[in-house]
Amino acid sequence: MKTIFEPFRIKTVEPIRITTRDERKKLLEKAHHNVFLLKSDDVLIDLLTDSGTSAMSTDQWSALMRGDESYAGSPSFFRFEAAVRDLMPFNHIIPTHQGRAAEAILFSILGGHGKTIPSNTHFDTTRSNIENSGASADDLVIAEGNDPACYHPFKGNIDTERLECYLKEKSDTTPCIMLTITNNAGGGQPVSLANIKAVSDLAKKYNKPFIIDGCRFAENAYFIKLREEGYANTDVKDIVRKIFSLADGMTISAKKDAFANIGGWLALNDDELAEKARTRLIQTEGFPTYGGLAGRDLEAIAQGLREIVDENYLAYRIRTNEYLGERLQALGFPIVRPTGGHAVFVDARSWLSHIPPLNYPGQALTAALYETGGIRACEIGTVMFGRKPDGSEEPAAMDLVRLAMPRRVYTQSHVDYIVEVFEELAKNKSNLCGFRITEEASAMRHFTAKFTKLT
Ligand code: F0G
Repeated sequence: MKTIFEPFRIKTVEPIRITTRDERKKLLEKAHHNVFLLKSDDVLIDLLTDSGTSAMSTDQWSALMRGDESYAGSPSFFRFEAAVRDLMPFNHIIPTHQGRAAEAILFSILGGHGKTIPSNTHFDTTRSNIENSGASADDLVIAEGNDPACYHPFKGNIDTERLECYLKEKSDTTPCIMLTITNNAGGGQPVSLANIKAVSDLAKKYNKPFIIDGCRFAENAYFIKLREEGYANTDVKDIVRKIFSLADGMTISAKKDAFANIGGWLALNDDELAEKARTRLIQTEGFPTYGGLAGRDLEAIAQGLREIVDENYLAYRIRTNEYLGERLQALGFPIVRPTGGHAVFVDARSWLSHIPPLNYPGQALTAALYETGGIRACEIGTVMFGRKPDGSEEPAAMDLVRLAMPRRVYTQSHVDYIVEVFEELAKNKSNLCGFRITEEASAMRHFTAKFTKLT
């Protein structure tokens, strides 16, 4: 059969309140044209993020009841630790309340003024935690990773030649090497096992710990199975184990590929580093057997990890975005090719070429998606990255709009509806206009900025 259907039945539903276009126009104006400022009840299809928005399974809901809320030594922690270690064989597994807390702890130890930390592309919270420590966060993704239209099966790969030059030049200031799988900021693109192995070899050669940001590890592993020679017959679970056996540690948000609504962890092999991390954890998150989470959250993560490596789920997951990408391309929308694991990224700068980057084409598309069809997407472009630490403003490398797919939440008819909304937008493309920012915060302005529409 060629139909890949949603591999689950629906037991509990969350009704969607249907709104009209006129209503949405007013709601958007009230939100100063910033979709982050909308109430989620006013959104029809919420593609703002795939983070913490997963539908939990019956087994996860059942596991919640087993949550043991003991302050220290809870059995829920040991079940969590065993489930993580089954996939990621690290010596020390340190729970945190979400991914950025793991990053904050790691870089409070490894960061600091004058330090330099390379990655393929740092996610914005990782970058922010590194920069906040005084260090610099450097992106060394392969050139193809910055070209939306160019096809490459592993567009998230780090440029290993550049990495080696970097390590030669900055060996004294580089405390670790990071790699984000999949590369969220670069379009949810995977990293090949060959690339992960090459980074691991360089890390050993230069005696640096190799830390993976593994938020979307299962999607990355499934892409390896589909696209990298020699893995077609390897279980995703074994690919996952292979990936993490090449690293010295990891940070992760359990809100992505652990099917949880909250959580994360930091894992390390080095005893001394782990000791420092646990001390910091106790200061900022909690005791090492709960780390900012309830026992029931640890149970949900443990069960989620067992479910995420199901290849029937992953086939459906990857196909959903591929299908959406194919339909959008057929309508003439330029997208980041190939489609990523968790999202479809539309190249708004290229599609809305009549809107200059400093009038935010990504924002224009995001606002139009909401007004036309009640779809909430996320601008990843000049609004997000345009303001520099010295106060100046520059166009970002790309103006993308991310349609991030929550896990196990929407069905194919929701996706067909999204396509229809884009079809409607295509008819009115020349009427879409840019925006000006009227108010913004001193950092991470995209969350709270207020906009005026330029007519
Ligand atoms: N690393 C990556 C690659 C991420 O995508 C995220 C979060 C984090 C770290 C931080 O994790 O949210 O649990 O603190 N990404 C979300 C997103 C917010 O929408 O892409 P967190």
